[in-house]
Amino acid sequence: MNILGIETSCDETAAAVVRDGRVILSNIVASSLKQHKQYGGIIPEIASRRQIEFINFVVKRALTQAKVTLKDIDAIAVTESPGLIGSLLVGISFARALSFATNKPLIHVDHIKAHLYANFLTFKNNKKKQKSTVSEPKLPALGLVVSGGHSSLFYLKDFRHCRLLGQTRDDAAGEAFDKVARILNLGYPGGPIIDRLAKTGQNTEIHFSCAQIPNSADFSFSGIKTAVLYFVRDKWDKKHVPINKIAYAFQNSVVSALVNKCLEVCRKKRISTLLIGGGVAANSELRKRLLEETPKHRITTHIPALPLCMDNAAMIAGLGYHMMAY
Ligand code: KG4
Ligand code: ZN
Repeated sequence: MNILGIETSCDETAAAVVRDGRVILSNIVASSLKQHKQYGGIIPEIASRRQIEFINFVVKRALTQAKVTLKDIDAIAVTESPGLIGSLLVGISFARALSFATNKPLIHVDHIKAHLYANFLTFKNNKKKQKSTVSEPKLPALGLVVSGGHSSLFYLKDFRHCRLLGQTRDDAAGEAFDKVARILNLGYPGGPIIDRLAKTGQNTEIHFSCAQIPNSADFSFSGIKTAVLYFVRDKWDKKHVPINKIAYAFQNSVVSALVNKCLEVCRKKRISTLLIGGGVAANSELRKRLLEETPKHRITTHIPALPLCMDNAAMIAGLGYHMMAY
């Protein structure tokens, strides 16, 4: 069964064809990120205008690259929520029209859960660089979605039954990366820039801490952002403390908070599979620490290949297949 996935929740316009909920035949992503950079964040009006410009081309390209035509598509899956309303509307309207015109079923998919589904996907011509960390995940699992808008923990019984255990009480992890990068004048999006700087900033002189929320699966990342702000404003000796040390101290604390919470919840719920998804799952330190530390607790961690951490339509088509198959 071939599912055409369409994803337009934010600044990416994406379409993909996925076979039997597993094999990615094509995965096309167009992004308006460049146009937002000068503003230091996503401008919804610009994002939705670009979605309209890109959508037709991106869907056609996904079909061509998959070497299929609309006749070979069995259903259309589209991101329903959450996201920017104007951007979402473009994808939903396009998918509805296509479904109506071709008389194929339309499946509405949750973007956050789809990020976790990325762990079940494989590329048709699976080259080394595209490979995921390990083979297919075993359920039930704990799912951590860390992106620009979300930091949530789910209990995943199966593809249809997914229960929210906890989430951020304020800023999302990716949002904290972006805001700290802004405080440090590093540009947008901040995550990849901080990730790169932190690689050469290892130190024990600077320490920022994330708020701990005991006996809860919730996170909090707004306090650490304020701590960085006060440090930069009041204490930073620019001559002697390079910026990469600040990046390291911040990233180290966020990564520790995420890893420790995952370990704590896995222990309490007796879960031995951990799935990660979302833009922050691309963070090299988070990937390294999870893969180092979770096996010590007999937990198998699955992290998607880098292109599948970011917003994409393959994850929408993949989860859509299971929503239709049940
Ligand atoms: O999932 P995503 O592409 O879009 C949302 O649904 O939000 O995530 C984007 C977020 C941004 O906040 C960006 O700074 C963060 O993911 N990000 C990273 C890295 N790459 C992207 N954060 C930390 N380290 C990275 N390498
Ligand atoms: Zn996302």
